[in-house]
Amino acid sequence: MRKVSIVGIGQVPVKKQYEERMRTIAKIAVKEAMEEAGVAKVDALFAGNMLADELQGQKHLASLIADEVGLDLIEAMQVRAATATGAAALRMAYLAVASGEADSAIAVGVEKMSGGLATPALAKALDARYEVPSGDTLISKNADLMRMYIDKYNMPADGLVNFSINAHKNGVTNPNALFKKAIDRETVLNSKVISHPIRLFDCSPVCDGAAAVLLVPTEEARAYHESPVHIMASSVSSDRFRVADRPEPLLLRAARMSAVQAFRRANVNRKDVDFYEVHDAFSIMACLLLEAAGFARQGEGWRMAAENKIGLDGELPLATMGGLKARGHPIGATALYQTCEIVQQLTGRAGPNQLKNPRIAMLQSVGGAASTVLTHIFGI
Ligand code: COA
Repeated sequence: MRKVSIVGIGQVPVKKQYEERMRTIAKIAVKEAMEEAGVAKVDALFAGNMLADELQGQKHLASLIADEVGLDLIEAMQVRAATATGAAALRMAYLAVASGEADSAIAVGVEKMSGGLATPALAKALDARYEVPSGDTLISKNADLMRMYIDKYNMPADGLVNFSINAHKNGVTNPNALFKKAIDRETVLNSKVISHPIRLFDCSPVCDGAAAVLLVPTEEARAYHESPVHIMASSVSSDRFRVADRPEPLLLRAARMSAVQAFRRANVNRKDVDFYEVHDAFSIMACLLLEAAGFARQGEGWRMAAENKIGLDGELPLATMGGLKARGHPIGATALYQTCEIVQQLTGRAGPNQLKNPRIAMLQSVGGAASTVLTHIFGI
């Protein structure tokens, strides 16, 4: 397998109700990534999108986007892994370049979810036979996990608030973030209950966006960009599909397994990770992922937030550009926004959110109720 690097990134600002078509915002992101690398053509394009067939009546997005961009006669494939779809597109592009099947590949993610009924469409990431008929949604599944967590570990009512406060603070200075407003403890604790005990400010928003990255073999990467970012590892793991069937529901085994595999493949210790772009779709998910990936002991992930260890100058910065909570979580595009942000951080282009000399970053992406989790590790 060849080593793979990122030589171009493209992002449009996350918004509610984009007026432009899905194909247009995807094209803008792809063109930006290609322009940065100085290329007019790529060998392959992998497109991540979860909901367009249901919300826009459009399947078969990859060749549609390729055509819109003017990329004829290339490998163009759509990829899906529920709410981890963007990371799945990244992994397919990575594998295409690593294996030698392609010498350049675009991973693009796009989602326009704010114009339709997002909640039932998202719930289809759960079991259509045993979970959805009883009213389960991704929100209610996370609420179940949060209730279990509070009961088991006696977490105080404000235990998770700093995950949202930190994300919103970092979103203020990200031009691509949906929410650019700092919040305080009271904002979170007084916000409306969505599904007990989850409140509005524990949730990522329903929104639209598109982001893309361009990958080439590391051995050629400097020819495209003076500061390429190396993808040190890509891994994915599954878990029992239904949370109820898992031996220990509060331990996200797919996140643990894919993290362990990624650390091995990258030959990186978790202590080497300078920042972690976590899948903070719900604050309880950020907490459980910190534990699964080994950054905190079980029952103690929330303490990393409560003890202010997750800020830009903290022990392990999280959601450095606003995270899913404040930058936004346009599903198929999310992990590609996070990858763009990781590239910005590792190459000193994160503006007011810039970390001090970061060298290694980790990204985790959760599909459904964590029955699929992808881990990527990046370095310079
Ligand atoms: N965080 C903070 N504020 C939010 C918000 C969020 N997640 N979602 C909406 N808002 C704000 C809106 O900006 C709006 O503010 P305004 O009145 O000042 O303009 C207000 O709340 C009402 O917006 P609306 O879109 O009507 O909210 P809603 O009640 O319909 O939706 C949720 C709120 C939480 C249900 C929705 O954001 C949601 O479903 N989130 C989860 C999405 C999800 O499951 N993603 C996949 C996870 S893996």
